[in-house]
Amino acid sequence: MSLLAGKVAVITGASSGNGRAIALAFAQEGADVVLADIREDPREGGITTKELVETETSQKAVSIHCDVTKLADLEAAMDAAETLGSVSIMVNNAGILKKQSVLEASEAEFDLMSNVNVKSVYFGTQAAAKRMVKNGCGNIINLSSIAGLRGTGGYSLYCMSKGAVKMMTHALADELGPKGIRVNSLHPGIMNTQMNIEDDPVIGTPTGEGYLDMIPLRRWGEPEEVAKAAVYLASDLSSYVSGSSLVVDGGYLRI
Ligand SMILES: NC(=O)c1ccc[n+]([C@@H]2O[C@H](COP(=O)([O-])OP(=O)(O)OC[C@H]3O[C@@H](n4cnc5c(N)ncnc54)[C@H](O)[C@@H]3O)[C@@H](O)[C@H]2O)c1
Repeated sequence: MSLLAGKVAVITGASSGNGRAIALAFAQEGADVVLADIREDPREGGITTKELVETETSQKAVSIHCDVTKLADLEAAMDAAETLGSVSIMVNNAGILKKQSVLEASEAEFDLMSNVNVKSVYFGTQAAAKRMVKNGCGNIINLSSIAGLRGTGGYSLYCMSKGAVKMMTHALADELGPKGIRVNSLHPGIMNTQMNIEDDPVIGTPTGEGYLDMIPLRRWGEPEEVAKAAVYLASDLSSYVSGSSLVVDGGYLRI
């Protein structure tokens, strides 16, 4: 059974980590994919996501240089989708994480976090929804985080951004639902990506490994597990699900 046959998905931040796994999983379910990122080589190494999709599936993959903070780049990603059909699934996945104390944060750091993690989701949704409205259907998935559901000291900028993604998802689901567009947010826990290895070294550090005791499943998540949840939200398996916040965290939050 191909859950996404005939669909065209735009995935931002698709070169690495969660976005890369989502792109592959969507293609494995029959979707053609637009891979929108500021880089092409995966942060974790290996072949590009385009090569991965083309090797592992018979679906089409188009790579496009897209800085999600730039509206023109988001529009260009939608135009790339037109070459494959028209965007039917938008995954606003690109994001950054930087730990920073409120006592030391600069205005530039605040603006960067807001632009990459929040502005991108809003205008990525706008660019996709303008096309989806014309087609009378569509599906938007926004990457929030467990940090969008619980505040943690040292992560106020990231939590702020991910909380904003959750709340805009609720409002957008209300606004776009009558036009046939479902909008949901995904809230991963600590996943095995460069974000938690390089940017905020949790995985592989003694302090970080201590967190495992707080996760009922006693392990980090894999990007492929975020991807499976994204397939659920993107497909008709979730046909009556909109405005929801799907948590994929090994039981960490338990809310
Ligand atoms: N890894 C986790 O534990 C975790 C947990 C919860 C939520 N998330 C969210 O999942 C999403 C993906 O995270 P990840 O762990 O895969 O990160 P990652 O760093 O492995 O990959 C992020 C990708 O986004 C791209 N990117 C960064 N800035 C961009 C920009 N301005 N324009 C376009 N692309 C850009 C990067 O080039 C990279 O390919 C993020 O929104 C993140 O906040 C991750």
